[in-house]
Amino acid sequence: MDLKNRNFITLLDFTPEEIDYLIVLSSRLKSEKYEGIPHRHLSDKNIVLLFQKDSTRTRCAFEVGALDLGMGVTFLGPSGSQMNKKESVKDTARVLGRMYDGIEFRGYKQADVEALAKNSGVPVWNGLTDVYHPTQILADFLTIKELYGYLKGIKFTYVGDSRNNMGNSLMIGSAKMGLHFTGVAPKELWPDQELIDTCLEIAKETGATINFTEDKMIGTKDADVIYTDVWVSMGEPKEVWDERLALLSPYQVDMEMINNAKTSVAFLHCLPAFHDKETEVGRQISAEYGEKYPKVKNGEMEVTDEVIESNKSFVFQEAENRMHTIKAVMLATMGENYE
Ligand code: CP
Ligand code: NVA
Repeated sequence: MDLKNRNFITLLDFTPEEIDYLIVLSSRLKSEKYEGIPHRHLSDKNIVLLFQKDSTRTRCAFEVGALDLGMGVTFLGPSGSQMNKKESVKDTARVLGRMYDGIEFRGYKQADVEALAKNSGVPVWNGLTDVYHPTQILADFLTIKELYGYLKGIKFTYVGDSRNNMGNSLMIGSAKMGLHFTGVAPKELWPDQELIDTCLEIAKETGATINFTEDKMIGTKDADVIYTDVWVSMGEPKEVWDERLALLSPYQVDMEMINNAKTSVAFLHCLPAFHDKETEVGRQISAEYGEKYPKVKNGEMEVTDEVIESNKSFVFQEAENRMHTIKAVMLATMGENYE
C-alpha cells in the first residue's frame, strides 16, 4: 500500500483497501502510543495548519499527531495570514509548498482545499469544508471497528442534516466500506441526488446499501450505530436556526430512538454537541426558541443529555480517535510504507 504524496480531500478518492489500510495503521499507532513506543518517523518534516473556522479536535489532533511523529507545526488561524485577503489560495499554496512538507486546511469552500492540493506540490489534508469532513469518518470507523470488530454489514443510521459535510462524508464512507447507511431527516435535508447516485454506484461493488427515510422509528430500528451532528453548521447564518429547528427538532436523538435500535447500539457524534445548557449558543437558542420548540428548552438540541451521558455513547473514545487516525493519514501520505 503506497499512499505517499497523496492528498486527503475526500474519501471518494480512496479505495476500500486504502481506507482499511489507514484504519489499521491508526489502530497500530494507537497501540504504540498506549505502550509508550515512540514513532518519530517524520522528524525531518514540518507542516502548516490553515484554519478559517474554529476547531478543538481537528486542530489538536493534527498538532499532537504531528508532534508524536516528530514534526514541526505552524498554526495559521482565521486572522494573521495573508490568505484570501491579500493573497489568493493558489499563491498561498505555492509559497507554503516551498516551506512545508504537508498542509492541513479547514474552511468553507471545497474548491479552496482542491486549489491548495493542485498548487502546493505537497500532501494536503481536508480538516473540514462546507461539503466534506473526511478525517472525521476515519475516526468514526475506527471506533466502530473497536466496538464491533468489523465495518462491513454494520447498520448505520445518521439522524439529522443529511446534506451537510458529515451527512455527505458518512454516506460516502459507508458506501466505500460496505455499511448499510440510512439517513433519517425531512426530505429537504437529504443530500444532492448526484452524490447519492455516486454512492449507489460504489455500493454495487461493496455490498453497501444507501437509504433515506423521514420516519425516525423506521430509520433507527435495529441500528448498530446511531449518529447525529449539529443542526446548523459552522459558516451558516444565524437566520437559519428557526427553519432548521422546525425541520429537525422532531428528530432529536432520545432514549426512545436508542431503545428502538439493537441492544448493542453505539451512539456517535463528531462533536461539539449541544446536549445541555453549558454552552453559550445552547443557552441563546433555548432562550430564543424554547417556547416555540419545547424540545430545545433546556439546551438539548440534536441529542438529549441522557443519551450522550448513557453507556450507549462512545463520543469521547471517538474524539480521541481523531488523533490516531489523523496521525495515520499524515504518516501514510508523507512517510514510507509502514506495513
Ligand atoms: N469533530 C470536529 O471536527 O471537531 P472540531 O470542530 O473541534 O475540530
Ligand atoms: N457539521 C458540523 C461539523 C463539525 C465538526 C459543522 O460543519 O459545523
